[in-house]
Amino acid sequence: MIFSIQRFNPEKDTSPYFQDYEFEIPKSATLLDCMNLIKWTQDGTLTHRMSCRSAICGSCAVKVNGHTLLACKTQASKVIKDGKVKIEPMGNMEIIKDLVVDFGQFWEKIERIKPWLVPDESEKPEKERYQSIDDFRKIDAGSTCIMCASCYSDCCSLDVDKGFLGPTSLAKAQRFIHDSRDRERLSRTGEISDKGGIWDCTHCGECSERCPTEAKPLERITSLRRTAIALGITNNIGARHVKAFVDSIAHSGRLNENILPIRSMGLFNISGLMSLIPIGIRMMMRRKNPPIIHKPIDEAEDVRRIFRKLRKG
Ligand code: SF4
Ligand code: SF4
Ligand code: FES
Repeated sequence: MIFSIQRFNPEKDTSPYFQDYEFEIPKSATLLDCMNLIKWTQDGTLTHRMSCRSAICGSCAVKVNGHTLLACKTQASKVIKDGKVKIEPMGNMEIIKDLVVDFGQFWEKIERIKPWLVPDESEKPEKERYQSIDDFRKIDAGSTCIMCASCYSDCCSLDVDKGFLGPTSLAKAQRFIHDSRDRERLSRTGEISDKGGIWDCTHCGECSERCPTEAKPLERITSLRRTAIALGITNNIGARHVKAFVDSIAHSGRLNENILPIRSMGLFNISGLMSLIPIGIRMMMRRKNPPIIHKPIDEAEDVRRIFRKLRKG
């Protein structure tokens, strides 16, 4: 089999390149086993990370055929296509050497959501702070994150906006915001509702696809959005967008894309509204603007009926 591995040594290379290694996969070997054997028997300069080899430490994530996964959790035979596998460093992070990337910004974003419990200090429990089984279930999935950054690596929002907190931090934020022992739910939710937070996720679902545990960031982000709305943290573009979306469909059975950006930005947000003008002009020039008068849709009344029923409860 051919292992095509991206190489880059900043001390001598001007840009990354692929190097092919011919290698016979031992029976039942994981991808990490193969990478180790290639390093130990063919090329000691090949650099990658690993530690536990048991899908626990989160060290060995790499991009395989374009998607990030844990090398130690992946059977090599499963990712070989036409006798070849392509291995690259994770995305959305700078390369340090070969398959090793710089986690600096990743950890800085984790730090920003204050990943520690802030309990009510006026309560002085005799032993530990008690949590019921039902309350624990609300944070169980989020607690399983192993910080491998697979979700961060493949997040399309981060690809275009490095200011986005990213799926790992938001999944971690959910674990504390929904913790029955934490007293900072409101302020924490307010902080992640600003620019770069929960509303900047495009819900492409890639993070949950990539996640090797039950942390599944998109599900955590969705539950945080519900919490933000329930707590009344709605004075932001994301929450207004949701409300405008729902109102439009409930009212007419269809999405009015002409009104949506205006209501999302806020009717009195003059600078925000002005910022939409160039986008509108570009859309018109490329004939991508939605029609002013929509064609009738036969089932639109059915959609309105479903909304009425849902709202009644
Ligand atoms: S669902 Fe959101 S957080 Fe997850 S990868 Fe897509 S844009 Fe990123
Ligand atoms: S949420 Fe999943 S994919 Fe993201 S860092 Fe945690 S374990 Fe890895
Ligand atoms: S080496 Fe620890 S998760 Fe793969």
